[in-house]
Amino acid sequence: MNIGIFDSGIGGVTLLHQALESLPNEKYLFYADTDNVPYGTKSREQVVELVDNVMRFMTRQGCKAVVIACNTATAAAADVMRQKYEMPIIGIEPAIKPAVAQSRGKRVLVAATPLTVREEKLKNLVKRVDDEHLVDLIALPGLVEFAERGEFASEAVERYLLSAFSGYALEKYGELVLGCTHFNYFKDSFRKIIPAQVSMIDGSEGTIKQLARVLESGKRTGAPQKDKNDTRVRYFRSGREITDADGLAYMKMLHDRLERMKHIQ
Ligand code: DGL
Repeated sequence: MNIGIFDSGIGGVTLLHQALESLPNEKYLFYADTDNVPYGTKSREQVVELVDNVMRFMTRQGCKAVVIACNTATAAAADVMRQKYEMPIIGIEPAIKPAVAQSRGKRVLVAATPLTVREEKLKNLVKRVDDEHLVDLIALPGLVEFAERGEFASEAVERYLLSAFSGYALEKYGELVLGCTHFNYFKDSFRKIIPAQVSMIDGSEGTIKQLARVLESGKRTGAPQKDKNDTRVRYFRSGREITDADGLAYMKMLHDRLERMKHIQ
């Protein structure tokens, strides 16, 4: 049976990529809700409805577990979905707890979408782990747009980041939390702009570890395959399966980029 992994768009490939490496013997159904991207600038009610549609699709496909590979969808809809559906639902959240633990008293900047930043779920998480009031939040919705049009490294991306960060004294920070799965595509551009002492951290590894715990198959039972674009994954755009060579080649390009980004801390 498949594991469903979904996001509003290509950001979710970040978690799929991690899952293929950590749990290489599972089968995956990847769903990018590209008809409705972005989620981060919508209302909570709209996102709950969109996530519900995706969950119905996952149920029809007989998925044994679903990973919400979208911090925004987790913040807005994970609790509601857990009450409604029986299958295990694992949702990614910004890695604020480990960031605070690692920042050695320096400030922590959490970058996410506008909806994630507004949601109670995130505010409660910050309250629980930020005893020393070190955490600041910043919304970077422009990066989702860049990612969806395939513009990952350009002068425009760098200008956007420079202007977004202009109000922050970055030398005071120790950690930058990538709290939106689309942001992992931009680690090279982030690295050019943030000072060397700021490390980047995201929740994908922890989320897939949680998936492994839920499946009780945490042990790696085989070497990860080099070619991520293999028969272990079926890709969908808002319910329509991607079967054409160009569409699948694009997915492979995304995996290749994420593999390169993984090595940038
Ligand atoms: N990738 C999503 C996240 O992790 C949201 C992007 C969007 O649709 O705004 O929050």
